[in-house]
Amino acid sequence: MLNLIFSFSLFSVLGWLLEVGYRSIVAKKFVNPGLLKGPYLILYGSGGVLLGGFAHLLIGTNIFLKALIYALITTSLEFVSGIIALKLFNKKLWDYSDNKFNYKGIICLKFSIYWTLLALIFDYFIYPRYTSLISHIPASTKSIFGFGVLFCMLFDFSKLVQEHFFKYPKEEEEKLKKEFFHLIKPYISHPAILKLKDSYHHKKKTRFVHVVEVAYYSFLIAKKMSLDVEVTVKGAMLHDLFYYDWLREGPRLHGFRHPKISLENAKKFFSLSKKEEDIIKKHMWPLTPTPPFYLESLVVSLIDTFCSLRDYLPGEKKNIVIDRDLE
Ligand SMILES: [Fe+2]
Ligand SMILES: [Fe+2]
Repeated sequence: MLNLIFSFSLFSVLGWLLEVGYRSIVAKKFVNPGLLKGPYLILYGSGGVLLGGFAHLLIGTNIFLKALIYALITTSLEFVSGIIALKLFNKKLWDYSDNKFNYKGIICLKFSIYWTLLALIFDYFIYPRYTSLISHIPASTKSIFGFGVLFCMLFDFSKLVQEHFFKYPKEEEEKLKKEFFHLIKPYISHPAILKLKDSYHHKKKTRFVHVVEVAYYSFLIAKKMSLDVEVTVKGAMLHDLFYYDWLREGPRLHGFRHPKISLENAKKFFSLSKKEEDIIKKHMWPLTPTPPFYLESLVVSLIDTFCSLRDYLPGEKKNIVIDRDLE
């Protein structure tokens, strides 16, 4: 595990150096590539670790079959990363539109050949030396470097998410809040949801405030990603519709079972679409193994985890939903 984290961090930094070198020479000025601000590229980190695994698995395989497999892996990785950056953060990190045989400007034949050659060089020349070198590096050095870079990446990434999805000029924020409170009006006045004010959910936060908070953050993300905002908000408002103190009473294995209980309760009071049902049923994923079927469900599930973790972290937190907003 330590070797994996160290390798991921090292390849991320080396990949960044390679990209900075290549792009800065082409542009004749310093170019910092990637979504994050720091000197690392997740794409190279994950690519390096993945290729290391395959280099190990494919020992003895002939070079042509290896080239074909590496072409598939590197091109898929490049495509998935490009799509994530584009859909999630509206950023086109590279553009192959001017190259022949490109697809959506995200992948192209010329660069797929480059990546395949690089992967083969990695397999035959770098990986064997790297595996013998890594065994000589002390565990403490690997821990400090590996976890240090990983921590910086996570911090960098959370800043990026915060700025992209949650930070707005005061005026725009007020407008968004107004839209949000208009959307949740039918729910926060419904007796079934008002009853959630009677139970504490996390520490001294009531379940009512928790669902409004999850709905608000999910609303911001859904808007930015052009998802179905109304459905996202409704699903989030109903995702924890149960009425017992989960720390002291209720069914055993509450974490696994309460999505189903909430869904049954929600169906008693509201008519639900397939998507809304999916949001409620899958909000504990990956604790409950069936993955969300819709992006809206994935958003609510991630936001629910984020809000819950945040509730248990020490320190003062800015309360997004204040009583004034709920009146
Ligand atoms: Fe829940
Ligand atoms: Fe929740």
